[in-house]
Amino acid sequence: MDMAVLASGYGSNLQAIVNAVQNGGISGRVAVVISDRKGAYALQRARDSGIEALFIDPREHERRDAYDKAILEILHNRRIHLVILAGFMRLLTASFVQEFKSRIMNIHPSLLPAFPGLDGVKQALAYGVKVSGCTVHFVDEGLDTGPIILQEAVPVCDKDTEESLHARIHKVEHRLYPRAIQLFIEGKLHLEGRRCLADEN
Ligand code: GAR
Repeated sequence: MDMAVLASGYGSNLQAIVNAVQNGGISGRVAVVISDRKGAYALQRARDSGIEALFIDPREHERRDAYDKAILEILHNRRIHLVILAGFMRLLTASFVQEFKSRIMNIHPSLLPAFPGLDGVKQALAYGVKVSGCTVHFVDEGLDTGPIILQEAVPVCDKDTEESLHARIHKVEHRLYPRAIQLFIEGKLHLEGRRCLADEN
């Protein structure tokens, strides 16, 4: 199954996915990595792994639907089946979501529905929760509102800074995201309304 990863930044989740593809944990192929930031380290990681890496400049497509159309064209040309958002900091338009309905995944650094949007880790710390975590979910038209595929809790320590908590959450993300992707590839994810059920036998 050919997959596209969309990433805006450091790309450690992309790396975890690429590693899982290499060691057989994911039985698919990352065909292309797309970023909205020219200097995103994720693009470098893709090149280092021999994966096509494309920067699509938001300034050349000022309207959101034009930008998303440009990405959709790339995805269709490469016959991409699954779109993986890995630290992609743009909201997709409703028509993009419709074209890839239940075939777009995102990872978010909190236990959704708590602390959606930007700075999930910072929001959780500021709120004072004792447990946070991360969530892999299907993308719908809302902001981090789609059906939850996998979630794992990460305790918050009194000494935590945003960096230290995010570092522990990242470690869990790197394990959770490849697992969710493989469940999808194996056809083991089933939606019942908002509930995403996984047969993990
Ligand atoms: C990850 O922690 C991911 O959960 C978060 O961005 C980070 C990207 O890290 N995503 C969001 O906040 C989405 N709202 P990475 O570039 O090292 O994979």
